Amino acid sequence: MSIYRKGLMKYNLDKQRKRYDALYLSKDTTCLYDEYLDEPFFEIANSKYFFPKLFKNINDKIVLDIGCGGGNMGSKISHKTKYMVNMDVSFNALLYARKRIANEKAKYVHGDMLRLPFKETSFDTVLCYASLHHIEDVAMVAKEAMRVLKNKGKFLCFEPTERYPWVYFWLDLFMIPKSLAVFLKNIYVKLQHRFAKQRKFYNVLKKIPHNSGVHFFKLPSQYKEILVKNGVKDVKVETVFLEFLPPRYFMSKNKIIVEWIIKLSHLFHKLRIAKERGRFIIIEVTKS
Ligand SMILES: C[S@@+](CC[C@H](N)C(=O)[O-])C[C@H]1O[C@@H](n2cnc3c(N)ncnc32)[C@H](O)[C@@H]1O
Repeated sequence: MSIYRKGLMKYNLDKQRKRYDALYLSKDTTCLYDEYLDEPFFEIANSKYFFPKLFKNINDKIVLDIGCGGGNMGSKISHKTKYMVNMDVSFNALLYARKRIANEKAKYVHGDMLRLPFKETSFDTVLCYASLHHIEDVAMVAKEAMRVLKNKGKFLCFEPTERYPWVYFWLDLFMIPKSLAVFLKNIYVKLQHRFAKQRKFYNVLKKIPHNSGVHFFKLPSQYKEILVKNGVKDVKVETVFLEFLPPRYFMSKNKIIVEWIIKLSHLFHKLRIAKERGRFIIIEVTKS
């Protein structure tokens, strides 16, 4: 039974667990979910921005993946590690991960990232991929990650952030008057909900019982502030992938087009209005 007064704690561990248990029990939702995590958006952000940082810190290292889900990361990297502990609060997710990863270097632990069941200085690298935005108390996760990391170890996170869709970017860039911008943004949101490709994905997720798909999106500066306040010294937070064009252009099969779009996205990122924006946030912490 929960000790928290109803409504006061938005993050509910039990609901999270039940939600992901249900997701990883159903073959259909699992396939759709994995497809979603492999969509070109994620793929490009991984290969261009996140993996270069991650791959420097896994070779023959002891790695912990907190909120590993169905083994998305484990299936890509566990064979390179000394060994990799895949941890999640959902037992069904772990069963699925074990099937998907199928590698002897991978271990599986049922646990909560707010209270890691590991001793001090046990890991070279702690990885958190697309899970931190589900957690309200990021400071606690960071403290726990720091505790279990060895000196000079790395805590690496890759998180989606609140959407800053391409229309918003142009409206802000041309300083369209606020009332008109809000009107146009609302039309855009309605149209997007009607026609966006992701509709199928979200509709299936909505059907999952114990729907507690609560997100605690933060800006890069907010993540940085939380980490620094909690004594983490060496923190780098960056946003990647500014969506200045409709997503379908980022997903183009033409590699040259995608590369140019990414170059322009980098350029726009330097603008003051876009500095805190982007589709994903990468956090890199070194324990000192
Ligand atoms: C969006 S999924 C991402 C899963 C995985 N990292 C991937 O890339 O597919 C979020 C995961 O975080 C897990 N999770 C949520 N709260 C957690 C907690 N307190 N401790 C451990 N895992 C948690 C969920 O069970 C779920 O598997």
